[in-house]
This record gives sequence, structure tokens and C-alpha cells, in this order.
Amino acid sequence: MRDVILEARGLTKRFRSREEGKRSFTAVDKASLSLCAGETLGLLGESGSGKSTLGQMLVGLIRPDEGTILYRGQPLPFPFKGVPRQKIQILFQHPEVSFNPQLTLRQSLSEPFRLRGKPVSDEALAECISRFGLYPEHLERRPGALSGGELQRAALARILVMEPEVILLDEPTSMLDVITQAQIVDFLRRYREEHGTSYLFITHSTSLAEQVCHRIIHIRAGVLAEEEVPERKGGEANEKDRHPVLSEFQ
Ligand SMILES: Nc1ncnc2c1ncn2[C@@H]1O[C@H](COP(=O)(O)OP(=O)(O)OP(=O)(O)O)[C@@H](O)[C@H]1O
Ligand SMILES: [Mg+2]
Repeated sequence: MRDVILEARGLTKRFRSREEGKRSFTAVDKASLSLCAGETLGLLGESGSGKSTLGQMLVGLIRPDEGTILYRGQPLPFPFKGVPRQKIQILFQHPEVSFNPQLTLRQSLSEPFRLRGKPVSDEALAECISRFGLYPEHLERRPGALSGGELQRAALARILVMEPEVILLDEPTSMLDVITQAQIVDFLRRYREEHGTSYLFITHSTSLAEQVCHRIIHIRAGVLAEEEVPERKGGEANEKDRHPVLSEFQ
């Protein structure tokens, strides 16, 4: 049986229109989807199609105009509170938006430890970042003194302290170089296998989606279209179709 963790029913978001004479335009129109435990669901569409808007409604960052979000079958009113708020996390395309520029990495990383009631020690912080190739010395720096790749890895380290069940990955690797992308994608795959985490993977790269996603939903002008299950050979994508990001790494 499918163990649905997060579900959207008829989510709609309208924004004020920039066109004269038009009051509003619909960025996401009656979107319904479900995300199962341990599943990577791809949301694929071109720029401006409404991917981030739908994703941000699903993680509670913006309020839907219509529709319902359910977490483990329970309606989740906006703003999210309590357990769902901790268990549903987002990794942004631009990692700097995840961090307060005034705070050192040590200060930013300590926050989720406190929220989870975990002791914040030098050892715990060092361990948290070491699996992403960062060092204790990075902890004393502010976001402006870290590279994009380092900051994205720190953002992921920080999210995982919350032990999320769902992570919205909003084009999390598109700003990174090929090796860093491959490392993050590979880490996420292994982490999901170990912890049963669910991912909603937003991308405009068909080949990347086909390799990392169990199912792919297409979005066009705010409307969810057909769903597809990528073709695999023995659970993996065809060698000739392998995305360059992954072929570097695997
Ligand atoms: N806060 C906002 N106010 C007004 N319009 C917005 C707002 N946020 C998004 N939009 C518009 O809604 C539409 C969908 O935007 P969205 O960011 O969801 O697209 P996207 O599919 O994530 O695109 P990209 O691939 O470029 O990130 C776009 O036309 C965008 O300009
Ligand atoms: Mg977007």
C-alpha cells in the first residue's frame, strides 16, 4: 500500500497581474499530487511554469488561495506548526536565502539543534558538517565568506539536523559545478535509501529528473499535466542517456 506523507488537493495561487486591465493571474491552478514515503517525485517544467510557487505552498512558505495540504492524512492549515513544520524542509536553489548574512555558520547551525532539543557541542557541529566536506574552521565564517557550493552543503547539513521526512529540493544543484552537483545528488540518494526520506525534486532538466525520480509530473503554465515513470534498466537509467552530472560520479 502507498504510504502517502504529503498530499496536495486543488492548490491554487494567484498573483497580482503586471498586465494592465488584468487583476490577477493564476500561477498554480488546482494542483493535486501525492508524495509517498521514500519516494523521489520530480516536478518538471520550464521557467515561470509555477514549480517554485507550488513547492513553496507545499512546504508552508506561501499561503494557497484555494485547496488543501494534508500531512499523513491530516489537513495542514497555514502557517504550518509543530511536527509538520519541522519534518517538511526546503533546500533552495540559492543557498544564501537560507542563511542570515549576519550570523556565522556556527550560529546558524546551532538553531536546528536547539529546536530539536539536541545539545550543541563543537563535536556535534563538526560532525554535522564534516560529511559534506566542511571543516570546523568554516563554522566561524559568515555566508558571504563561503562559496556557493560550500553554502549549499551547509544548508543541507542544517536541514538534516531536523531529521526531515520530506525535503523540497528546488533546483538545488543548478548553481553548482558538476562535481559538487554530483556529490549532492549522490548524497541525497544514499540518505533517502537509509532514512526513507521523501523528496519533491524541482528541476527543468529532463535527464536529471529521469535519473533521480521515481515519478515525474510535468507542469505547464501552472497546470499539472501527465505523470510519467522514467524508463529504467535494472533500476538505473540507460547508460547512453545518463546525465553528465551523474556520469561524472558513478
Ligand atoms: N510573489 C510573486 N508575485 C507576483 N508574481 C509571482 C510571485 N512569485 C512568482 N510569481 C510569478 O508566478 C509565475 C510562476 O513563478 P515560479 O517562481 O513558480 O516559476 P518556476 O517554475 O519556479 O520558474 P523557474 O524555473 O524560473 O524558477 C511566474 O510568472 C512568476 O513571475
Ligand atoms: Mg523556481
